Amino acid sequence: MAGLIIINRPLSILLYVLATAGAAAAATSPTPANATSDEEYWAERAAEARATNLAAYVSDPVAAANSFNKETLRATSRRSLRRSKYQGPCVATNPIDRCWRCRADWATNRKRLARCARGFGHSTAGGAAGKIYVVTDGSDDEMIIPKKGTLRYAAIQGRPLWITFARDMVVRLRQELIVSANKTIDGRGAQVHIVGAQITLQSVSHVIIHNVHIHHSVPHSGGMIRDSKTHYGFRTASDGDGISVLSSSNVWIDHVSMYRCSDGLIDVVNGSTAITVSNSHFTKHDHVMLFGASNDNPQDAAMQVTVAFNHFGKGLVQRMPRCRYGFFHVVNNDYTHWQMYAIGGNNNPTIISQGNRFIAPDDPNAKEVTKREYTPYSEYKEWVWKSQGDVMMNGAFFNESGGQNERKYDQFDFIPARHGSYVGQLTKFAGTLNCHVGKPC
Ligand SMILES: *[C@@H]1O[C@H](CO)[C@@H](O)[C@H](O)[C@H]1NC(C)=O
Ligand SMILES: *[C@@H]1O[C@H](CO)[C@@H](O)[C@H](O)[C@H]1NC(C)=O
Ligand SMILES: *[C@@H]1O[C@H](CO)[C@@H](O)[C@H](O)[C@H]1NC(C)=O
Ligand SMILES: *[C@@H]1O[C@H](CO)[C@@H](O)[C@H](O)[C@H]1NC(C)=O
Repeated sequence: MAGLIIINRPLSILLYVLATAGAAAAATSPTPANATSDEEYWAERAAEARATNLAAYVSDPVAAANSFNKETLRATSRRSLRRSKYQGPCVATNPIDRCWRCRADWATNRKRLARCARGFGHSTAGGAAGKIYVVTDGSDDEMIIPKKGTLRYAAIQGRPLWITFARDMVVRLRQELIVSANKTIDGRGAQVHIVGAQITLQSVSHVIIHNVHIHHSVPHSGGMIRDSKTHYGFRTASDGDGISVLSSSNVWIDHVSMYRCSDGLIDVVNGSTAITVSNSHFTKHDHVMLFGASNDNPQDAAMQVTVAFNHFGKGLVQRMPRCRYGFFHVVNNDYTHWQMYAIGGNNNPTIISQGNRFIAPDDPNAKEVTKREYTPYSEYKEWVWKSQGDVMMNGAFFNESGGQNERKYDQFDFIPARHGSYVGQLTKFAGTLNCHVGKPC
C-alpha cells in the first residue's frame, strides 16, 4: 500500500538513527578541549529533546492528514456554516478560526486558543497551564538578567506562561530571543512587532506564536544570552531568521505576518516535528521556509509539518517550503506570488499538496510549482510528491512523482481536502488580526 511505503521508510531511518545515536555520542566523547561548556549544555538539551520529539511523531501521518481534511470539510460545509451561532460581521472560514475567533470573550478566555490547533501541531498547549504574563516594556537591553516586563523576561521563565502585550508595541530584539518550553506569545488585542533578531525555539516543546508581526530580523554575532531561569551561556552567531525551530516539537505558528528577514522566515530543522504553520501571511522575502537544513541530518525523517490556510503573497521568491526528508502536508494555502518556484526540496521528502491555489508568475520559466534540488529524475521519481484538488492558474503546474516502483499512488489512501477553489475564503483572514476586547476578532 502506498500508505505503508510512506510510513515505513522514515521509521526505519528513525530506528537507525536511534540505534546509532548512542554509538555516535560515545565516538565524539571526550568532547574536544575547545568545546565550551555551552556546547555541552545544548548537546544535552538536544538529546533530551529528541525523546520528546520522537514521542510527538505519529506513525501514520496519512491518517493525520486525512483527519485534518475531514475536519475542514465538516467545519466549512454549508450546513455547518448555516448552523453557526456566530453569524453577523464575524465569519470564521476555517476550523482553526472557528474554534475561537468569532467569540466575543477571546480576551477573557485567551487560553481557549490552545485547543484550536489542527494538523501535526494539534496538541500544542503553549502556556495554557500557566498564568498570564503581560509584557509592558518593548526594550531588550539585558541579555543575562532580562528586565521584568520585557518579552525576554517572560520567554525564559521556567514555568508555563501565556504571554500577552499591554498595548501596541515594537519589541526590538538585540539578540536572538530564546523561548523556553510551554509558552504562548499571544499578540491579540495589540499590534505587536517583533524586529531586530530571530525568535529561536531550540530543544523545546509546546510553543504557540500567535498574532504578531515578525520582520527585519538581522544576523547577530552572538554573545552571552540567557535561555532559561537556570542557565545562560555563550551563543554563537544567529542567522537572522524570523523563527528558527531546532530539535523541537509541538510548535504552532498562527496568524503571524512575516516579511523582510535576513535568512529564512521560518526554519524547521534538526528533527523538529509536530508542527503547524497556519493562517499566516508571508510577503517580501526570498527564502520563505526551510524544513530540514542539511542532507546529513537523517533525523529529519521525523519531521511532520502541516502548512495550512496561509497566504504566500507579494514579493516572495522561493521555498514555500523547501523540504528535506520528513512528511509535509501543504493544504489549502493561497500562493499568489513566487518568482522561482513554490514548493521544493531534496532527500526524498514526502509532500502532499491538497486544495491549494497556485497562481504562477508571468515568467514562462517559473510556471512549475515544484522544484527538485540537485537530483536526477532517476532518483526523484520515487519521491512521493502529490497534488490533489489544487487549483492551477496562469499556467502553473505541479510535477508529481512517487510510487512508480511500488503501487501507484492511490487516491483512496487520501481523503481529499476542501478543494482549492475555496482557498480565497479559507485564507481570507490570514496574517495578524485586529482584535478588540469584548468583540469577535
Ligand atoms: C576546535 O579546535 C579545532 C582544532 O584547533 C578547530 O578545527 C575547530 O574549529 C575548533 N572548534 C571550535 C568550535 O572552535
Ligand atoms: C511543560 O509542561 C509539561 C506539561 O505540563 C511538563 O510535563 C513539562 O515538564 C514542561 N516542560 C518544561 C521544560 O518545563
Ligand atoms: C543541527 O544539525 C546540524 C547538521 O547536522 C548540526 O551541525 C547542528 O549541530 C545541529 N544543531 C543542533 C542544535 O542540534
Ligand atoms: C516532470 O518531470 C519529468 C522528469 O524530469 C519530465 O520528464 C517531465 O517533462 C516533467 N513534466 C513537466 C510537465 O514539465
